[in-house]
Amino acid sequence: MTNPAVDRAVALARAIPKAELHIHIEGSLEPELIFALAQRNGVTLPYASVEALRAAYAFTDLQSFLDIYYAGASVLLQAQDFHDMAWAYFLRAKADNVVHAEIFFDPQTHTARGVPMATVVQGLASACRQAEAELGVGSALILCFLRHLSEEDAFATLEEALPYREHFIGVGLDSSELGHPPEKFERVFARCRELGLHLVAHAGEEGPPEYMWQAIDLLKVQRIDHGVAALQDPLLMAELAHTRLPLTVCPLSNLKLCVVRDLREHPLKTMLDAGLCVTVNSDDPAYFGGYLNANLEQTVAALGLTEREVVVLARNSVEASFVSDSQRASLYAAVNRVVAAFELKD
Ligand code: ADE
Ligand code: ZN
Repeated sequence: MTNPAVDRAVALARAIPKAELHIHIEGSLEPELIFALAQRNGVTLPYASVEALRAAYAFTDLQSFLDIYYAGASVLLQAQDFHDMAWAYFLRAKADNVVHAEIFFDPQTHTARGVPMATVVQGLASACRQAEAELGVGSALILCFLRHLSEEDAFATLEEALPYREHFIGVGLDSSELGHPPEKFERVFARCRELGLHLVAHAGEEGPPEYMWQAIDLLKVQRIDHGVAALQDPLLMAELAHTRLPLTVCPLSNLKLCVVRDLREHPLKTMLDAGLCVTVNSDDPAYFGGYLNANLEQTVAALGLTEREVVVLARNSVEASFVSDSQRASLYAAVNRVVAAFELKD
């Protein structure tokens, strides 16, 4: 059944310029590229074919996904591999009218296998430069600490990364949430704050609202990644509405990792109605069935979001990004041009 209002909102969602703020670059590694890199690097995979690998993407929770995601990343060995992975993401982002991307990477996944930090950062940074020059897509890198490892490991990773400080703008916290609360990383985040790095953390994906409070109060993050658990805590909802601390929400991820049973039950619209600064993002698009526009299209259709709400989501993505004031002004102007072309009134 077609609904003209939903069709218009979907068309606008596709066309509108937006920032993507929650994308793990290792989660953009498509099965075809995993196999190509495995062959190039002489790595043996425990799957016979692209189809067999894709068939294994049936997740029951975050951990069942992470096990396969870390295995997929094992084909990345040379700077060119990191470059090729990021370049493939940028081509998809461009096709989705992403004009700016803040991209997570997980260095510990690679340094633990003997890949030097320089290889990881330089391969990613060269793809970022090429995306700006050839596609006009701006970007920045955010180094994520793996929370299932110790804070000591995180400190050592930070030290290893500091010679490449110019290539990343901030730090994040990802991997297995339950049992690894933000408080475990309070000291390393304090150090990163002293260094002038931007701070974000995954919280309230599978974990409780308490983890979101810890991310805010102890880690002093500037954005929370996911944060769908906020709905369980009215005080936290009120705080987020008041401060407009952004949440980078990932609807298809929540569906594939069984955080929600059906996209029609996704809390994104409730969060928008409550005045939260929520954004839509793809998280690990190669694993969860779609890039940014697929997330927007399916969420708009499932929740019946209006054109006006699509514009709010795009503007929120600009508000929540870590760009300079002048870049932010030009991103808002790009959004406004498309709003005008769709003859929407402000
Ligand atoms: N690493 C990659 N994707 C992740 C997610 N959705 N949650 C936590 N860690 C991740
Ligand atoms: Zn994530």
